[in-house]
Order: sequence, then C-alpha cells, then structure tokens
Amino acid sequence: MRFVFVICLISACGEDLDAPRSPVGAIPETEQRSGDAAEGWRALIEEGYVGCGLPLSAYQRVFPDPAPAEVRLDRAGPSADLPYNLTAFRTANGVDVVTPNCLQCHAQQHGDQIVFGLGSHTADYTGELDTLADLAGALVEDPTEKAEWQRWRDRIAAVAPYTVTKTIGVNPADNLAAVLFAHRDRDTLAWSDEPLMELPPMITVPVDVPPWWHMQKKNAMFYVGAGRGDHARIMMTASTLCVDTVDEARAIDSYFPDVRAFLLSIEPPKWPHPIDAARAETGRAVFEGNCARCHGTYADDGDTYPNLIVATAEVGTDDVMARGAGQFADIYLDWYNNSFFGELSNLAPAPGYIAPPLDGIWATAPYLHNGSIPTLRALLESSTRPRFFVRSFNPFDYNVAAVGWNFQALEAGHDTNNQEFDENQIYDTTQLGYGNGGHTFGDTLTADQRDAVIEYLKTL
Ligand code: HEC
Ligand code: HEC
Repeated sequence: MRFVFVICLISACGEDLDAPRSPVGAIPETEQRSGDAAEGWRALIEEGYVGCGLPLSAYQRVFPDPAPAEVRLDRAGPSADLPYNLTAFRTANGVDVVTPNCLQCHAQQHGDQIVFGLGSHTADYTGELDTLADLAGALVEDPTEKAEWQRWRDRIAAVAPYTVTKTIGVNPADNLAAVLFAHRDRDTLAWSDEPLMELPPMITVPVDVPPWWHMQKKNAMFYVGAGRGDHARIMMTASTLCVDTVDEARAIDSYFPDVRAFLLSIEPPKWPHPIDAARAETGRAVFEGNCARCHGTYADDGDTYPNLIVATAEVGTDDVMARGAGQFADIYLDWYNNSFFGELSNLAPAPGYIAPPLDGIWATAPYLHNGSIPTLRALLESSTRPRFFVRSFNPFDYNVAAVGWNFQALEAGHDTNNQEFDENQIYDTTQLGYGNGGHTFGDTLTADQRDAVIEYLKTL
C-alpha cells in the first residue's frame, strides 16, 4: 500500500502514462512473505490458479489414455493421468477442466531428465492458439460444459493474435500479460471481451524463459528488473487468464507465498560431464577479473551477487524489450500498479537488463533475454555468433564443447525461400527484437582465457 501511495505522489495519481521507471544500477532488496515449499509444489501442480480450461471430458476424448509415465507426476484425482504441464481442477460452475500450469513454460526436458524450473526453450508459439481451442469445442456437448469451454475459448481468442512468435523456442508471455491486462477492469478484475485500453502491437517480443533458481538471488523479477515489491503477488499474474474477481484473486494469492518458497528451493542442475579442474581454476581468476563485477562471485563458503541492472547502452544487447515492449509499456504498468496486484507489488522496469546469476548457466542455453545465441562459446566470441541459424530442439543434442545446443548456421533468414527449413525453425537475428548484438565482454579475452572461463562456467 505504502508503495502505491508514493508512486501516486510522483505521478499525480491516475493521471496515467507517467508510469514509474526504475534507475539502472543495483536493485534494492524488499521484504518477502514467507511460505512452505512442499505446500507450494502441491499448489503449483494441483490448484486451479489459471481459472478456466478445456472441459476434461473433451480432453479425454482426444487423449483417452494416460500420458506416458515419464511425464506424469505423483498426483491424485483427475490430474493423475495428465502430463506434468497440465492440471485438472473443478471450476466454480462445477465443471472439471484441464489447463496448462506454470510448468508449461517453466519446465524443460534436458537429456533424459525433466528439469522443473528450467525455462522451456522448445515450445512452439509460431501458430495461433485459438485453432486448437475451436477444434476442441466441437467435442463439448453438455450445456454447462459448453459455457465453460466458451469462457476459456474467448480468452484464448483474445490473446491469440498477439502471442505469435517468429521462431520456435521463444516465449510470448510479456505480450500475453499486456493483452490480459487490457481486457480487465483495473478495480474489479472483471473481464471484458472488448479491450478496455489499447492493445500491444502484434509484433510479439521474444523472451527466453529464465530459470526459477535465479529467484534465490534476484531482488526483482524479470529481465528488465520490473518486478518489485512482493514477488508472490507478481507470480500470480498467471491467473489473469480467467480469474475475474478480486475475491478469487485474493484466495489464490493466499497460497502463492508457498509457490514462491518452492521456487526458491530449486537447486540448479549440475554439469553432467567431466570438468578439467585446473583449467576451471584458471577460468575463475579470469572471470573474477572480467565478469564478477556484474555477475557476482561463486564460492563454497558463500556467493556474492550485485543485483545490477546494466544500461542498454553499456551491455549493447537488443534493446526492444528494455524500451518498454509488451507488459512494460506505460499503459500496462499503470494498470498493474493501480490494480489488486499493485497493492503489494509494482512493475517498474529499468532501461537496461539485469546481469543474471550464472548458477546452472550451462543448462539454460540459448543465451540472452531473447535466446538469440545458441552456445556460451558464441556468446563469448561475438564474431562467431550465427546471424541466421536453426538450432536443435532435441533435448539430447547438446554440444558439450561449445556449451549449448547444436545449431546449423544459414546464409539467409526469413526473407528468403529456404527450401530446407520452415521459416519458423529459423532464428533470424535481423528481425525486430531478435537481435544478437552486444555483450562483447568475452571478445577481449585470449583464446586460452576464453576456454578457461567456459570451463569455469560449467562448475557453477
Ligand atoms: C506462457 C508462459 C509462462 C507461464 C504460463 C508462466 N510464466 Fe513465468 N515467465 C515467463 C516468461 C517469458 C518470463 C520472463 C519474462 C521477462 O523477464 O520479461 C517469466 C518470468 C517468471 C519469473 C521471474 C524469473 C526471473 O528470473 O526474473 C518467475 C518467478 C515466474 N515467471 C514464475 C511463474 C509462475 C509461478 C507461474 C505460474 C503461476 C508462471 N511463471 C507462469 C513465462 C511464463
Ligand atoms: C557490465 C556488466 C557485465 C559484464 C562485465 C559481463 N556481463 Fe554478462 N551479462 C550482463 C548483462 C546485463 C546480461 C544480460 C543481457 C541480456 O540478456 O540482454 C549478461 C548476460 C550474460 C550471459 C547470458 C545469461 C543468460 O542466461 O542468457 C552470460 C553467460 C554472461 N553474461 C557471461 C559473462 C561473462 C563470462 C563475462 C566476462 C567475460 C561477462 N558476462 C561480463 C552484464 C555483464
């Protein structure tokens, strides 16, 4: 509450479009509500925080058999047979529905493991989501179920044109949030089929989903450091798809400190291949001399992490997101900060990017906020970054030497008729928001130093 009040003083309350921005530099720590990690995991995979979904009966007609055992979780009830990224729950109207949960975007198969908390980097958002929703609707007959399907389908139809990416593997969540805010009354959270304010451009900002274990160290959520105040309240914005009243939102919020506690309990996966310890130790010194001032230090007896937002002019990476794309445009910030969500938290992006913690960095390829660089080696030697490429989406096709995904560099991108690949398989770094420039801090290293830093990064 206090924070909202302070913002009001600065922006003359409600007189819009003067939304708060954060400065670049160190992000201060804010107090968080505590929670129970085990309870958080249960809520994450069982609760209906998304608020609507496809009637279970229709889902079961398409998928009559249980999902393969390796993608199921230990769940009772109607979720028992579903894959980890879907949850079944009963809506207020008494209809059992199936909906994607957080793990849709925040889990990923890597080798033969499903890593919970690792950002999904293989999902395909290059098509419109509503086609499938419509097909599924044909399978729903019962009138109560049909009404429930319609509610879900209307939301999907509203967001579909604004969440189409140009490349498989990048995520549209920032634009998705903007569209959902635009369709909701700021005070009551009531949904309106007609947007209540301007919608974002249909050019979807591409985002590489960050791993959840970063939140052990980060004082603000999101690449542009926008998520300030109470993080649990921010995390529950995933409920803006179908949660249509403040009372319902408050009930969900009551267990989100537990969800946050679960997120903070996740440890990054360990590098599963051999490491040259002597070379890694040389790399540590190079890292501490060249990288630690932004990315912190890593030691058995305690890490340091400066929580630094680096101005786009200094880091030089694609600046579309930091200029206020998706939910970070003024009108959406204004909506958020004056809504139920703004009671405990606020969105205040900075004109730059956070230098992220590098724990488990080997597993989080591709790199940068837009996933524009497939390997650590290419990140640290900018002349070798592919301008146009197709990267492997096979979770076993990992490149141990380059630390990242195998890829094939191409001569041309989306503007040519490539016979070999569909356009949506090609990462074209000349597209708006997809740039792979900047972060040239590895270029001044000698080849030996670079090898050593890469060896060191494997140990984090
Ligand atoms: C449609 C995909 C999607 C879904 C569903 C989703 N997220 Fe995210 N999440 C993202 C993306 C993309 C980002 C990065 C956005 C940015 O930084 O601009 C993100 C960022 C985050 C972060 C901040 C991480 C960091 O390092 O700053 C947290 C925490 C988080 N999500 C938690 C959740 C939780 C909890 C849920 C479920 C209630 C959820 N997310 C549902 C896509 C999704
Ligand atoms: C001036 C501050 C600064 C310095 C110095 C710096 N970095 Fe970064 N680094 C950043 C920022 C900011 C980002 C995020 C940029 C983005 O996503 O657009 C980043 C991103 C990265 C990433 C990608 C993270 C991810 O999850 O995609 C890696 C890996 C990395 N840096 C390693 C290094 C190494 C190794 C060095 C030293 C050779 C170094 N950095 C030096 C600021 C810095």
